[in-house]
Amino acid sequence: MKDCYKFNTRVMHDCKEKDAFNALVPPIYTSASYRFNSAEEGGSSFRGETNCFIYTRLGNPTTKILEKRIASLEEGEEAIAFASGMGAISSVFYTLLSNGDHVVADKTIYGCTFALLNHGLTRLGIEVTFIDFKEESTLKNALKNNTKVVFFETPANPTLKIIDIEKVVKTVKQYNTNIQIVCDNTFATPYHQQPLTLGVDIVVHSGTKYLNGHGDAICGFVIGRKEFIDQCKKVGLKDLTGAVLGPMEAYLVIRGLKTLALRMERHSQNALKIAQFLASHPKVEFVYYPGLPSFLDHDTAKKQMKNGFGGILSFVLKGGMDQGIKLINSVKLINVAVSLGECESLIEHPASMTHSTYTECERLASGIEDGLIRLSVGIEDASDLIADLSQALEKI
Ligand SMILES: Cc1ncc(COP(=O)(O)O)c(C=O)c1O
Repeated sequence: MKDCYKFNTRVMHDCKEKDAFNALVPPIYTSASYRFNSAEEGGSSFRGETNCFIYTRLGNPTTKILEKRIASLEEGEEAIAFASGMGAISSVFYTLLSNGDHVVADKTIYGCTFALLNHGLTRLGIEVTFIDFKEESTLKNALKNNTKVVFFETPANPTLKIIDIEKVVKTVKQYNTNIQIVCDNTFATPYHQQPLTLGVDIVVHSGTKYLNGHGDAICGFVIGRKEFIDQCKKVGLKDLTGAVLGPMEAYLVIRGLKTLALRMERHSQNALKIAQFLASHPKVEFVYYPGLPSFLDHDTAKKQMKNGFGGILSFVLKGGMDQGIKLINSVKLINVAVSLGECESLIEHPASMTHSTYTECERLASGIEDGLIRLSVGIEDASDLIADLSQALEKI
């Protein structure tokens, strides 16, 4: 089916499963466990010899539809749904890494992923090196005999830094083809970017964001080759984290996904208009948005992203943090809240909120300035959002 239909169709038509009543909307299967027809069938199901559902932590009919759809959208062989983005990311690390292994990660990533790597994995005897992946030679020099995983986000949270995916793949695979390259594709979504098609091994998502898109469910995804997904399900999810997505949330994400392409189109259009407005405003020092030709990484973004550049932008006001905080306190329509990728616009201050897991020194070394303000541009009318920012800028 993947070969027949385009992305905008696949968000709702892919991987339909027939249920007993031929329901158009997938039913929510709430059952925690599933009956076997015999003890023998139970045993063979546990040995992986049947397609029977056993227990929802190991698989669920509603969640399975969502997993198949996400795998199709990311052009991956298979996917697993998780209870959160952090559940997905930690399950990948726990599946791939053991005491004595080494991870190379980009230094500009979501605050809790940074904490998981910097504090969580290091406590387990896993060595983590944070570098700037834009420096090809730095990446090359950071790789070691015991490097098992390379991790990055692009666009990165919260600076929108763009990492050239193909260059990273080339550098890493030239060194050792067994190193697993993991890319967090939360900001771009498969609508704008499909890292697996560029040579990445594993894609992770906070599905809480654009994939669900309505801010009413926490979830995460891992997409990759069948062999890894099987291992991640049996080890990372089943035995180590247990971070399984509930069927109710799976249903919400299946519903939200239907409008992914429409929403991303509007998010991107709105974000570009707002980025242009802010870039020309006299009180704004700098705007970080991959769609602006003035943005340092614009050419790389143009090369690897399609249909636009996403709905997140960050900016610094003249006068830095004090002015930024005043702006946040002056918006009326835009919500002061963390998270991103919802229909409604959200504004936050990374240094004191989402990225407060970094020490000041780590944060500044990662390009996350004190005064940086992150705006998740929603799908409201762009002129209303610009009017709101405009009145807030007048007050500072
Ligand atoms: C880029 C990125 N990855 C992962 C996560 C973690 O996802 P979740 O909050 O669903 O656990 C977030 C959350 O903000 C994020 O921004």
